[in-house]
Amino acid sequence: MAAHFRTRQRQWDDGPVAKNTMWGGRFGGGTSGVMDAINVSIDFDRRLHAQDIAGSRAHCRMLVAQGIIGAADGERILEGLETVEREIAEGTFPFRREFEDIHMNVEARLRELIGDAAGRLHTARSRNDQVATDFRLWVRDALDRLQGEITALQAVLIARAEEHAASVMPGFTHLQIAQPVTLGHHLLAYVEMLGRDRGRLADARERMNVSPLGSAALAGTSFPIDRRHTAEALGFDRPCENSIDGVSDRDFALEYLAALAILAVHLSRLAEEIVLWCSDQFGFLRLADEYSTGSSIMPQKRNPDAAELVRAKAGRVIGDLNALLVVMKGLPLTYGKDMQDDKEPVFEATDTVTLCLAACTGMLESANFRTDRMLADAAKGFATATDLADWLVRALGLPFRDAHHVVGAIVKRAEGRGCGLEDLPLAEMQAVEPRITETVLTVLGAENSVRSRTSFGGTAPENVRKAALEARRRFLT
Ligand code: ARG
Repeated sequence: MAAHFRTRQRQWDDGPVAKNTMWGGRFGGGTSGVMDAINVSIDFDRRLHAQDIAGSRAHCRMLVAQGIIGAADGERILEGLETVEREIAEGTFPFRREFEDIHMNVEARLRELIGDAAGRLHTARSRNDQVATDFRLWVRDALDRLQGEITALQAVLIARAEEHAASVMPGFTHLQIAQPVTLGHHLLAYVEMLGRDRGRLADARERMNVSPLGSAALAGTSFPIDRRHTAEALGFDRPCENSIDGVSDRDFALEYLAALAILAVHLSRLAEEIVLWCSDQFGFLRLADEYSTGSSIMPQKRNPDAAELVRAKAGRVIGDLNALLVVMKGLPLTYGKDMQDDKEPVFEATDTVTLCLAACTGMLESANFRTDRMLADAAKGFATATDLADWLVRALGLPFRDAHHVVGAIVKRAEGRGCGLEDLPLAEMQAVEPRITETVLTVLGAENSVRSRTSFGGTAPENVRKAALEARRRFLT
């Protein structure tokens, strides 16, 4: 058993492991390869480098301002941090696994660059409040960037909606043709969904924008720090109220992931419609060559792979939210190393959603809507049956429920003749309801139907034009 374990263990061993000089004071030697494999986070948390440096700068300036460290040491630390920043930008910074994570990698390098003064930077600070601060800053930055990318997709949807304000297509319920709508109206529905996604992110941002820095390990510190100073320097609204909460709160990441999961679900619905509409059966949409793929065996194929993948990737983002919820569930206060596992789900969800937004924006910008096919289908499936019922209510004063029955009988006759409602002879309609006159023809036909839907939020082309303008004002300015 032990021998078997040692053989298997080799896969994690890449030579003797150096002792961690940051916390290794009371330890005998280096850690096992397995220990490093599970513990080291630099491979992914190096993505926090900019936030880590920003946090250290703010902390250092505050320590100097409060007289906790000397001005000369402060200067040296700030210069060293600048070198670290430059090395990372130039790709020469040594990211080393023996220093575990980004925080200790930066500090270890700082010591090599400036000597002992580096050791003063960690006064009145712990990696617990440091990582809580860095990660919050990272999520805040990612959130701000995503706001712009969602807006870019909204801009494309609005432009295409304006172009197709009067293009008639079938609207669906149960994926059955229900009533005619305009393509512009349909596209603007997604603009609303994305607007709510932006609202959710903005709400999360407001709650997350408090600084954990100065919570130290969990209990605060005996040094006379100024938490307002660091909070302000890092663009936070204020310091968090409670140091225990400060180091153990990951709500900000959960809220962010929840907003991303809902956004990913929205994108997957859009993607699913692209997939459906590209099929021969629908034929509503043709993706540009740059967003289509071929088949290696069937030369005639033109596949919407990007849309299918956007549809699929919602699974990952939902998984990322779940992963972090489960990490946090039942975790005692305050910090537990479990919380190091908060980063990969957030990074993955961010990258995935960023890519999906770009794919949707690109596909829709370049897609060719086949309005002839849409219009032809809009007339199918007795899509104007509700218009006929509404006419019976308006023109003949029938209660809607009775009108519904009359239209049911008329639809049955049209079905028997294999024609649409607008092609059914008037006499056939009058056989069901003798008071029907030929003015009924003005409401039948898909174009008449959409033109009549002028209620607020309805699909009429004039509404869509106004709604698109309004959407520009609400979302793009
Ligand atoms: N790499 C750690 C993380 O991401 C940093 C905090 C470690 N704190 C500690 N007390 N071990 O969570």
